[in-house]
Amino acid sequence: MEPNLTDSASLIDPERRDIAPLGRTDLSSTWLALIRKYIRGEPDDGAFTGAHTPNVTPVTAAECAARLADADRVFAQWLAPLGRSAAQVAGIEPARIAVALNHMHHESRRLTMCDDALLDNVVTLAREVIERRVPGDFIEAGAWRGGVTILMRAALTAFGDLHRTVWVADSFAGLPAPDPASDLRDAIWHHVMRAVGLLQSDLDGVRSAFARAGLLDRRVRFLPGWFADTLPAAPIERLALMRLDGDWYDSTRDALEALYPRLSPGGFVIVDDYGLPTGCARAVDEYREQHGIDAPLEWANQQAVYWRKPL
Ligand SMILES: C[S@@+](CC[C@H](N)C(=O)[O-])C[C@H]1O[C@@H](n2cnc3c(N)ncnc32)[C@H](O)[C@@H]1O
Repeated sequence: MEPNLTDSASLIDPERRDIAPLGRTDLSSTWLALIRKYIRGEPDDGAFTGAHTPNVTPVTAAECAARLADADRVFAQWLAPLGRSAAQVAGIEPARIAVALNHMHHESRRLTMCDDALLDNVVTLAREVIERRVPGDFIEAGAWRGGVTILMRAALTAFGDLHRTVWVADSFAGLPAPDPASDLRDAIWHHVMRAVGLLQSDLDGVRSAFARAGLLDRRVRFLPGWFADTLPAAPIERLALMRLDGDWYDSTRDALEALYPRLSPGGFVIVDDYGLPTGCARAVDEYREQHGIDAPLEWANQQAVYWRKPL
């Protein structure tokens, strides 16, 4: 039985005279809490899987070790000059890689991998830019199954915004293959992440996930394809909130270059993967240095950072 996410009034029983009527703020936060449960796949009874097919076959440490050994062969010409193995470049032992990949499997019923701290961060920053009237749309580059963008769209309604658009950018074909010459560590991780299907999602599944929450409307726009192709030409004038979750050096750099110039002063950029052992942090640090950005980085959890574009 699916909850009725589109009808906030269904949360109120008119016969219950003993409870105070909910104010607009209470209704909004109750509805946002429901949306958060929805995108996190709770209850985990399979009701929220939509068009997505969960892949729950556990990955073993031995499988990760075998994939790293195979990476030694595939990336030999880049590893040889470094005198290092793929496992050494990846920087994490196979058992921990297996835990990380199985975490993604565990999350496979969800529409987002984000934890509570990251979802709080999105809601807090969305509210801040709406209340302070920072002009511009919201975007997530690296939307996967769309959970965070569903929450962004819900936040627009919850905090009374009537005009902004939420942009949903993803290949919907999984993680791209990084150029080993650009970032060898990303290329090795990509090789290993074949074990979880390279996080491939599908556009129709994401559309239905929005629709099931009653949030698929003209204020949600999709940008399917590689960031380097879609983002520079996207008809986005201004952004107030941009969230980057593309894992790799190239993906993060492409998204920053295309989108940061369109971020309004007072707007926020969130980078989900800054704390991961991929090239994401290098892309962020290089971009900030090249553009003289010294706004302090704040940590949203142990992995994601954000900063506010100075006014
Ligand atoms: C870790 S997942 C995103 C998780 C998601 N934000 C969530 O809430 O759980 C990374 C996503 O980025 C996408 N991606 C990475 N690099 C990309 C690129 N260069 N162009 C398009 N999509 C990309 C992948 O397809 C994948 O869906």
